[in-house]
Amino acid sequence: MKIAVLPGDGIGPDITREAVRVIEALGLGIEMTWAPVGGAAYKAHGHPLPAETLAIARDSDAILFGAVGDPDCDALDRHLRPEQAILGLRKALTLFANLRPARVFAGLESHSALRPEIAGAIDLVIVRELNGDVYFGEKGFRTNAMGEREGYDVMSYATSEVQRIAHIAFRAAQGRGRRVCSVDKANVLETSQLWRDTVIAVAREYPDVALEHMYVDNAAMQLVKNPGHFDVVLTGNLFGDILSDQASMCVGSIGLLASASLGERQTAWGTFGLYEPIHGSAPDIAGKGVANPMATILSAAMLLRHSLGLADAAERIERAVAHALGDGVLSRDLGGNAGTAEIGDAVLARL
Ligand code: NAD
Ligand code: IPM
Ligand code: MN
Repeated sequence: MKIAVLPGDGIGPDITREAVRVIEALGLGIEMTWAPVGGAAYKAHGHPLPAETLAIARDSDAILFGAVGDPDCDALDRHLRPEQAILGLRKALTLFANLRPARVFAGLESHSALRPEIAGAIDLVIVRELNGDVYFGEKGFRTNAMGEREGYDVMSYATSEVQRIAHIAFRAAQGRGRRVCSVDKANVLETSQLWRDTVIAVAREYPDVALEHMYVDNAAMQLVKNPGHFDVVLTGNLFGDILSDQASMCVGSIGLLASASLGERQTAWGTFGLYEPIHGSAPDIAGKGVANPMATILSAAMLLRHSLGLADAAERIERAVAHALGDGVLSRDLGGNAGTAEIGDAVLARL
């Protein structure tokens, strides 16, 4: 079993270190190869996703990713910005299905931004498309008829792109609450009309799963009003990005939400994938030793489950994290004062 470890920028190296300690503590004999990405890779090698890093990622059974993003790089040409590393990996490796589970940990209901009785019911997974949408359409700057400079980004989805992510969502629902809520903006966007028509067609193959449609503005509202309503939320790249950060605060912190990005390639034990917290490099707290590593540790658990077929080990990690939280091991984002390494220690002690 071989994994690529790509720590990245800001808090990335600190949170990744804790996740690696947890994997190592399980003694599974996983071979790890570290490689630079993001601003760190740009500064060292002139590119946010060096060819060698991409080759190491491709040559692995799974990728553990920290975070990329560096304010020093925000004025670079877009293709050289740190964020292109994660976008490039998702695209180059056809990791089109992003699973972002959100559920409230027992005892942590009062840490949600919502009232505890509302938060307690959260147990959903956002299935976010990752290879299309306005993220990857034609973009640029131009001068309009008024002589004014304008920016543009083209939003589009091909039918096959929607079909493959819809199948992922329906299959996920079959293993959970058998409900899919497809989120779009079909009242305004043709991209969304195609999305909705396609999801309805795919749904015919899953008569055991209930499908509903919701406009994204209403979904943002319902996620706060009654998050317990949702089981599988199926949505596009942009809406999924936004709704998942929102879901994290319904749970309690962005430092708690893990993710898996999967495609069709198989490993000897499961599906090849990239695993990362949903948050970014958090430059405002980088280097302070206060970042919450739990989202990354939980991403490592998803890696073991989905790519390496190690469901028991994944559950051990998830139980240890839940146990630490239940014992009041809380980082600053959750109102406590446990540091990054201290949280790693607490999880290790409970494995
Ligand atoms: P962010 O997620 O990095 O941070 C948002 C807020 O949440 C900040 O206040 C931060 O301190 C806090 N936060 C995030 N993770 C935390 C953790 N583990 N523990 C405690 N607090 C945490 O989002 P941003 O500030 O909008 O973006 C910063 C940079 O990260 C940008 O360059 C952005 O492009 C990049 N980014 C990268 C990824 C990724 O690598 N997948 C994801 C999101 C943002
Ligand atoms: C995420 C991030 C990325 C995204 C950025 C850094 C490109 O926000 O993984 O949620 O928008 O997908
Ligand atoms: Mn995001």
